[in-house]
Amino acid sequence: MNQDTSGPVILAIESSCDETSAAVLGGRRVLSNIVRSQLQHAAYGGVIPELASRLHQQHIVRVVDQALVQAGISRQALDAVAFTQGPGLMGALMVGASFAKAFAWALDKPLIGVHHMQAHVLAHFLQDPAPSFPFLCLTVSGGHTQLVLVRAPLEMEVVGETLDDAAGEAFDKAAKLLGLPYPGGPLVDQHARNGNPAFVQFPAPDTDDHTFSFSGLKTSLLYYLRKKLQENPDFIQEHLDDICASYQHQVVTILLDKLARTATRLGITCLAISGGVSANSALRARFLDLCQTRGWQGFIPPMAYCTDNAAMIGIVAHYKYALGLVEPLDTAPFARGDFEGV
Ligand code: KG4
Ligand code: ZN
Repeated sequence: MNQDTSGPVILAIESSCDETSAAVLGGRRVLSNIVRSQLQHAAYGGVIPELASRLHQQHIVRVVDQALVQAGISRQALDAVAFTQGPGLMGALMVGASFAKAFAWALDKPLIGVHHMQAHVLAHFLQDPAPSFPFLCLTVSGGHTQLVLVRAPLEMEVVGETLDDAAGEAFDKAAKLLGLPYPGGPLVDQHARNGNPAFVQFPAPDTDDHTFSFSGLKTSLLYYLRKKLQENPDFIQEHLDDICASYQHQVVTILLDKLARTATRLGITCLAISGGVSANSALRARFLDLCQTRGWQGFIPPMAYCTDNAAMIGIVAHYKYALGLVEPLDTAPFARGDFEGV
């Protein structure tokens, strides 16, 4: 845990997808981090945007209250209110943005808008030791797969991206084909632990050193399962662990291959992974192995800060506050977009 309490006391709110979360940071120290996951989406096999907005609307007051009580911080003691401005589901973002605006306005506190992907990267600064600059971060979530060159807390450049599906989608879509519930990423991880990663060899995409692509991999799994199920209708049940292990092995190989090539090309020796997929056990283990083999410094975030949470929004706001980067009250969320202008 980070013990550095010097700096502003910030209330941060995250509502970009299916987690309603609020956190209080005192300096870089997390005083509370409440995350309420919307499990209702599982019944539909994916996040339903309208349902997400409604559930954020229902939960946000309670979640913010809990964050303040657990932190032992009164509303008046806050120095700023931060919120996820984008990217994400527009309706979901609007709930957090409207709440944060009203809160900041009523208390007459500054409002700070935060880029969700920048927050996944800076989640590393919620703990010590933190990466040193410059470092290269592989950010892998449900909507993004990015290689981010980080020169300073708020100086980031996307140097690689996916052409199609994000790594999290690659896991979730594979899980769906295998009949596992949403979100399937953690379940593929769980089954893969007991499986043989060499059971079947899935193809790697033919893309640039810094460009990812996962749609071909997903399609090859689809065709593979179709063929095998024709021969044996129980094929999935009989080999679920091995299929998960083989598929996961290939996703992780693709991710680490591009990361290593880009780090070598840029001459970067400090590396990190972040985002929901950085909770994957194989990615974490093989990333640390890779760094050890190459003599690189490798950073993995604590599990609680991998998937969506408001503490990571708070840490970006911490650095923005120091530079006076605040938003006017007529600011609006954005569904898409890179770091520029944030
Ligand atoms: O960062 P995140 O919580 O939300 C977005 O910003 O998208 O990432 C969610 C993604 C989902 O696709 C989920 O399946 C994946 O992260 N995920 C995992 C694991 N835990 C979460 N994927 C593979 N293995 C895991 N252990
Ligand atoms: Zn996220």
